[in-house]
Amino acid sequence: MDAKRHFRNLALVGFMGVGKSSTGHLLAEALDFDLVDTDTLIEETVGKTTAQIFEEFGEAAFRDLESQVGLLLEGRTRVVIATGGGYAVNPQNMQRLKTHAMVVCLWASPEVIFERVRNQDHRPLLRCPDPLGKIRKMLSEREAAYRQADVLVNTEQRTNREVAHQILHHFQSACP
Ligand code: S3P
Repeated sequence: MDAKRHFRNLALVGFMGVGKSSTGHLLAEALDFDLVDTDTLIEETVGKTTAQIFEEFGEAAFRDLESQVGLLLEGRTRVVIATGGGYAVNPQNMQRLKTHAMVVCLWASPEVIFERVRNQDHRPLLRCPDPLGKIRKMLSEREAAYRQADVLVNTEQRTNREVAHQILHHFQSACP
């Protein structure tokens, strides 16, 4: 990590189901930062759920909205940013995040992710006959992008609280 970088914010990236929103809540509380969830911000701006946006306007439109949200975030201070799973796949989004935030990637294997998301149905990309196969494929396609994060944290067999604790340690060491 570049020691000269100054972090005003903390951003969480990573695949669906790794715990970005729940861990983000804990981090925001501990740091007394606001929590911004990029999916929620998009949903509030458009007035539709992510699933509706995918269905009515298509994935490309959703990705454009994600990039627009990225511009808004540049002006923010003392926020924990929980990104949607595809957010950091766009190199411009990742680059922009790094100008103001320490970027932490939460990681889990496809099997663990599948167990965590199998009873949820709000994610349009996993509404398919073989969600585990889809997770394996997408995660391998996205891995290189996620690895551009400043810090990689394994979330397997650990509670959100334990994960948040480790991230706090990284963040506080980088912001003395
Ligand atoms: C997506 C992840 C979702 C949401 C959208 C697309 C992805 O966010 O942005 O369904 O491409 O991985 P979560 O990671 O919060 O589920």
